[in-house]
Amino acid sequence: MNNVSNFVEGVDNAFVVILGISLFFLIAITLTMIGFVIKFNRKKNPKAKNVKEDMRLEVLWTVIPTILVLIMFYYGWVGYKAMRDFPEDAMHVKATGRMWSWSFEYKNGKVSPTLKVPVNKAVVLDLFSPDVLHSLYIPAFRIKEDVVPGINNKMWFEAYEEGEYDILCAEYCGERHSFMLSKVEVMSEENYNNWYGEDLSGAAPAETGLQILQANGCTACHSLDGSRLVGPSFKGLYGGKREVLVAGGSKKSVVADEDYIKKSVYQPNSEIVDTYPQVMISYEKTISEEQLKQIIAYLKSVK
Ligand code: CUA
Repeated sequence: MNNVSNFVEGVDNAFVVILGISLFFLIAITLTMIGFVIKFNRKKNPKAKNVKEDMRLEVLWTVIPTILVLIMFYYGWVGYKAMRDFPEDAMHVKATGRMWSWSFEYKNGKVSPTLKVPVNKAVVLDLFSPDVLHSLYIPAFRIKEDVVPGINNKMWFEAYEEGEYDILCAEYCGERHSFMLSKVEVMSEENYNNWYGEDLSGAAPAETGLQILQANGCTACHSLDGSRLVGPSFKGLYGGKREVLVAGGSKKSVVADEDYIKKSVYQPNSEIVDTYPQVMISYEKTISEEQLKQIIAYLKSVK
């Protein structure tokens, strides 16, 4: 088996031990049952007999299962304990799970929709959710941890092989739960440092606008090609006329101008486009006015 990360061995050991014990008993109990059906068949034993207690049996079927359960506990404990011992020298990445996308924020402020990490380096993910329960799951690394609003959960790993591995959300979180997908990109230290140090300040504003949208997971619900997802598409949004619902349930017509876009980001449910669900949270704390300007510049460019 390939150990692509530090917990693969411990988790797989626990799994194989428990599976092996379960399989053994499945077969042993089934065979015993069949044996008893034959041996204690009514035709062979026309008169019922009372079976007296047997001390040896009582001790055996208490002691053996206790030992087996302790063996399972041992493997589970060893596998799990390592996951809760966070190394001091690990690098920290803030992992945000929101309806319905992941983003990863680095010490220098860089935000990425995929988790980029150097190989052979311990990485602690500080888990954050602004809305509901999610669960960050990396099957290849055998790790999964709930992302709970208001609770600072953590998880960690060290990847041993470069490559791309799936990230899933393993806690049902609403309509597009099954689309909450991302990747871990394990890179050589050199490639990682190049990416980490990359300077984005020179990029054109329209380009960074899209990056901000992607980093905040907006494109999980708003398509770029005009197709309908959870919210209205970004394509052709700017300057378009919209029927919106206002508080109290009445409708009015608005033009998607800068003010309307700002309102939609900061108070998304105050004037929501008709026929769309009220599921977006406010991004007042996560998207600054400066970033909003870049988003608007981008939206203008995808008419
Ligand atoms: Cu997030 Cu399921």
